Amino acid sequence: MQDRILVTGGAGFIGSNFILQSMQDSSCSIINLDKLTYAGNLRNLESIAGNRRYVFVQGDIGDRKLVSQLLAEQTPAAVVHFAAESHVDRSIRGPEDFIRTNVNGTFSLLEESRAYWGNLSEEDRSHFRFLHVSTDEVYGSLRPDDPPFSERTPYAPNSPYAASKASSDHLVRAYHQTFGLPTLTTNCSNNYGRFQFPEKLIPLIILNARDGKPLPVYGDGKNVRDWLFVGDHCEAIATVLRKGRPGDTYNIGGWNEKPNIEIVETICDLVDEMAPGKSPSRRELITYVKDRPGHDRRYAMDASKIERELGWRPKETLESGLRKTVRWYLENHDWVAGVTSGSYRQWIATHYSA
Ligand code: NAD
Ligand code: TYD
Repeated sequence: MQDRILVTGGAGFIGSNFILQSMQDSSCSIINLDKLTYAGNLRNLESIAGNRRYVFVQGDIGDRKLVSQLLAEQTPAAVVHFAAESHVDRSIRGPEDFIRTNVNGTFSLLEESRAYWGNLSEEDRSHFRFLHVSTDEVYGSLRPDDPPFSERTPYAPNSPYAASKASSDHLVRAYHQTFGLPTLTTNCSNNYGRFQFPEKLIPLIILNARDGKPLPVYGDGKNVRDWLFVGDHCEAIATVLRKGRPGDTYNIGGWNEKPNIEIVETICDLVDEMAPGKSPSRRELITYVKDRPGHDRRYAMDASKIERELGWRPKETLESGLRKTVRWYLENHDWVAGVTSGSYRQWIATHYSA
C-alpha cells in the first residue's frame, strides 16, 4: 500500500496540480475523490485519465458510505484533503455550502479515516497520514508593522470561508490529540498558476486584460497578499507528507508580499507584452470597485519552520511565476473557454454589477 494516496478535491486548482506532480513518480498511485462542483474540472487531468495508477471517483466527502467503501477497497497509505469551497466572495454571498463541505465534510472524512486507520495492521497504522490542506486566512488580518503569521499565531478568522477552514483545522487537531490519528496540517498563502478558476484575482485579471474588459480592484487596491506559485505549494505538501511530524502544522508561503494593485499592474504589463492590443496600455482598464465586506488588509506567512525542519523553500520567483501563468492563460484557449461559460458568466454578472 506504499505511496497510494486518496486525494480529495483533486479536480480543483491545487489538487490537480498536486496529482499531476505526484504521478511523475512511478511508485505513486492516486485515487481522486471529487464532487465536481463548479470549481472541479476533469480537463486538468486529461493527460493521466487512462493511467492505471490513477482512479477518479465522483462523489462528496460528506458521503460517509462512499468514503468508507473507497478506503476499504483502495487501501491508501495517506489521505491528502484539498476538497473545499474556496472562494471568499462566494462565502459572503452564500456561506452554507462552506459549512457543509469544509466543516461537516471534513468531519465525515476524519471519522471514516479514523475507522479505517484503526483497523490497519500495526505497521500500516504507523505509516498512515491524514494531511489537511488549509490556508493563512485562519489567522485573520495583519497591521502593516505586524510580524508575519507563525504556527503559534492565534486563530482569528474574518470571513465565513476563513471561519469554516479554521473549524476544520480545529477538528483535525482534535482527532490527533484525542484519537491519535496521525494528522498533518499545512496553512498556505495565496496560490497562483495554471488551472485556477478565473473567479480569483490573478486569472480574472489576466482574462479581462486579454479581452479589454474592466479590471476590478477592490477598495484602494492596497490590501496585501503573500503569493506562492502552485508548483511550489505542491512540493511543500509532498515534503510535509514524507517528512512532517504527526500532529504538527506547517505554514507555507512565498516570501512575496505585494499590494493587489502591484500584482494587477504587473499582469497588465505582461499581457501588453505577450498579446499587444488596441489600447496603449492595459493599465487603463484598472477600475476601483466597492470593497469586499470584512476585507482582510494584509496576510504574510513566516515559512521558516518548514524550511528549518523539512528543508522546503519556494523555487519560483514572483516575476518568473507570473510570466509563466500569464502565458499559460493566453495559450490555453480551450481550457479557458470551457470554464468561462454558463454559471461563470452568471457569477461575474451578479458579483460585479453595481
Ligand atoms: P478549488 O475551489 O479550485 O477546488 C476545490 C475542489 O474541491 C473542486 O475540484 C471541487 O469540485 C471539490 N469539492 C468541493 N466540494 C466538495 C465535496 N463536498 N466533496 C468532494 N469534492 C469537493 O480550490 P483550490 O484553490 O484548489 O484549494 C484547494 C484547497 O487548498 C482548499 O482546501 C483551500 O482551502 C486550500 N487553499 C487554497 C489556497 C489558494 O490560494 N487557492 C491557498 C491556501 C489553501
Ligand atoms: P482572491 O483571489 O479572491 O483571494 P483571497 O480573497 O482568498 O485572498 O483575492 C485576492 C485579493 O484580491 C484580495 O485582497 C481581494 C482582491 N480582489 C480584487 O481586488 N478584485 C477582484 O475582482 C478579486 C476577485 C479579488
